[in-house]
Amino acid sequence: MKTIDKPNVVIVIFGATGDLSKRKLFPSIYRLYQSGKIGKDFAVIGLARRPWTNDIFREKVCESVQVADQEKENDLQAFASHFYYQPFDVTDTSSYNHLNTLLHELEGHYETDGNRIFYLAMAPEYFGSIAKEIEQNGLKDGAGWTRLVIEKPFGHDFESAKELNSQIRLAFDEDQIYRIDHYLGKEMVQNIEVIRFANGIFEHLWNNRFISNIQVTSSEKLGVEDRARYYDRSGATRDMVQNHMLQMVALLAMEPPIKLTPDEIRSEKVKVLRAMRNVEHEQVDDYFVRGQYGPGSLGKGYREEAPELENSTTETYVAGKVMIDNYRWAGVPFYIRTGKKMKEKSIKIVVEFKDIPMNLYYKHRAEKHPNLLVINIQPNEGITLHLNAKKAGVGSIAQPIQLSYTHSSIDGINTPEAYEKLIYDCIIGDTTNFTHWDEVAYSWKFVDAVLDAWSKKEPNFPNYPAGSMGPEAANRLLEKDGFHWWPILD
Ligand code: BG6
Repeated sequence: MKTIDKPNVVIVIFGATGDLSKRKLFPSIYRLYQSGKIGKDFAVIGLARRPWTNDIFREKVCESVQVADQEKENDLQAFASHFYYQPFDVTDTSSYNHLNTLLHELEGHYETDGNRIFYLAMAPEYFGSIAKEIEQNGLKDGAGWTRLVIEKPFGHDFESAKELNSQIRLAFDEDQIYRIDHYLGKEMVQNIEVIRFANGIFEHLWNNRFISNIQVTSSEKLGVEDRARYYDRSGATRDMVQNHMLQMVALLAMEPPIKLTPDEIRSEKVKVLRAMRNVEHEQVDDYFVRGQYGPGSLGKGYREEAPELENSTTETYVAGKVMIDNYRWAGVPFYIRTGKKMKEKSIKIVVEFKDIPMNLYYKHRAEKHPNLLVINIQPNEGITLHLNAKKAGVGSIAQPIQLSYTHSSIDGINTPEAYEKLIYDCIIGDTTNFTHWDEVAYSWKFVDAVLDAWSKKEPNFPNYPAGSMGPEAANRLLEKDGFHWWPILD
């Protein structure tokens, strides 16, 4: 029997020979298949320019699942038999006509009720025209629902994002558009809301009277790998801050929604993004620091990674102070930082509570050990509360202690991978963990101001060695406010 949480569907992937399909999409669909979250009646159509056949495609799908999950089970062949390939030219109408025929065939074969997902996992310059062709060639006119999934980047700045959005909106309604921000699929990012709103001890203190600052770090050891062309046009601000970092800030700062519906949650997030203080040109250095890695313990500098990067002024690191000018957060800095080729791979949030005025239990009364709530997103998943307690033995000396809760997971192996959750959400029509246009728009406006100010001044790059925690100036950003970055590893 078909149930609402397991609808049958045909997923059409544009860019099926690409890295994202191989690394994330195929293994995620496999896990949904294995855990029974996707009906047995499903099909995937892979589209790309290469002249592959169904057999080649299926082989690649099996390989990618094996690599991702070290999967050896024999249901792989059965799984892969649901995959079909069509060589595709996104600019050629006849490709869309063939796709239409194939869709109808597969819908008959698998009885998928006409439900269709079009997943755009390819170069963004084609997003608008593909959406238009899908509409004009009747591919949206199936018997069931149709959804469009769009990978980032969603535009290059506010204006281009707006243009792209209006192109897509000519063909699809907002509620049919699923803009991916894969951080919103991460277990512990989804947990932010629950930790906040399901615990009185946190929520009552979650404001400017009790919190001194919040630090959000997403550091990577990887460099640009083979994405130099994309990355050099993008840089860390567009690649990470406009989307992932600001989404985490929004979740940390939003008011409790009146209901757990996508619209209610989104409207609270949007209010936060609207309240972010705009960074004026002349103040950019007070709020943001940019960096680019040079040679260091993790190898070459950015400019040596590829010939075209030789004179690049693209930032591979950003640290920033985001001020949210509303009643709850006035005066509390949200510090964010993200970068490539940093010392550790870590995604972590540290909420620093205001300290008591003087500590009687430390030798030096000025010694401060403020309480911290640390939300570990990756590689470990869990939360740690930093408190002070009596040191065992004689006297009343305090020592910092930690209460920890760790998800029993090894870096995302047991918890569902972000993409797995997001694909599933799209199949069941839950838009909560996708970004609405309003969020995208406000985030772009905020980062555009920073990028615009930077564009007026040549940066002094490189300014941090590969394998470090970023440029010195990022430390000063906090020091001048009387704070410091908490270590990313406990
Ligand atoms: C992507 C960026 O959105 O996120 C990449 O384009 C970055 O440059 C990646 O490496 C980081 O994701 P995660 O899940 O490894 O933190």
